[in-house]
Amino acid sequence: MKTALRQLPWPVTLIGSFHEGRHNLMTASWVSQVSFKPLLVMVSIAPERFTYELVSASGEFVVSILAADQAEIAQFCGSRSGRDVDKVRALGLKTLPGKTVKVPLLEDCLANLECRVAATHPAGDHVIFIGEVVGGEVQRPEAEPLVVRDWKWGRYVKAEA
Ligand SMILES: Cc1cc2nc3c(=O)[nH]c(=O)nc-3n(C[C@H](O)[C@H](O)[C@H](O)COP(=O)(O)O)c2cc1C
Repeated sequence: MKTALRQLPWPVTLIGSFHEGRHNLMTASWVSQVSFKPLLVMVSIAPERFTYELVSASGEFVVSILAADQAEIAQFCGSRSGRDVDKVRALGLKTLPGKTVKVPLLEDCLANLECRVAATHPAGDHVIFIGEVVGGEVQRPEAEPLVVRDWKWGRYVKAEA
C-alpha cells in the first residue's frame, strides 16, 4: 500500500509562520489547491510541529513554493524544529514583508501564497488547515518546481517540463 501511495508526486513547499516576533519555516509536501471560488489551499500539519503552534495562534501562513535548486533548504527546514533553531537566520534567507499578512515572504523561492486560515479539520495524525489565498507573488517565473516522487528521505527530483 505504502509503495503504491508513494507514486503520488508531492510538491515541496515551505510553510512560513509568524507570531509574537518569531518567524518560522517548515517543509511541507501535503499541500494542494482545493477550491477556485473562493481561492482555497490546504496544508496538513502534525500537531507536534512548532509551525502548528504558530499558525494556530496567528491564523495566517505563507506557502513558499520551492524551486528545483532549493532541495537543501527543504531538507534543513524539514529536519529541524523552529523551537531549537532560527531557520531563516541559519540559512541566511532573504525575506520581503507580506502584503496582506504579517508572515514574511521569501525572496528567492518560485512563488509565495499569502493565506488566512478559513477552517481546520482533524485528519488522523495531522490537522488540515484550509487557507484562503489573499495574496500571491511569483518571484522566479523561469524556475522549475522542486517535487518529490517515490519518497525516500532526502530524495528530490526536478518536475518534468
Ligand atoms: C519533503 C518533506 C515534506 C514534509 N511535509 C510535511 C507536511 O506536509 N506536514 C508536516 O506536518 N510535516 C512535514 N514534514 C516534516 C516537517 O517539515 C518537520 O517535522 C519540521 O522539522 C517541522 O518544523 P517545525 O517544528 O519548525 O514546525 C516534511 C518534511 C520533509 C523533508
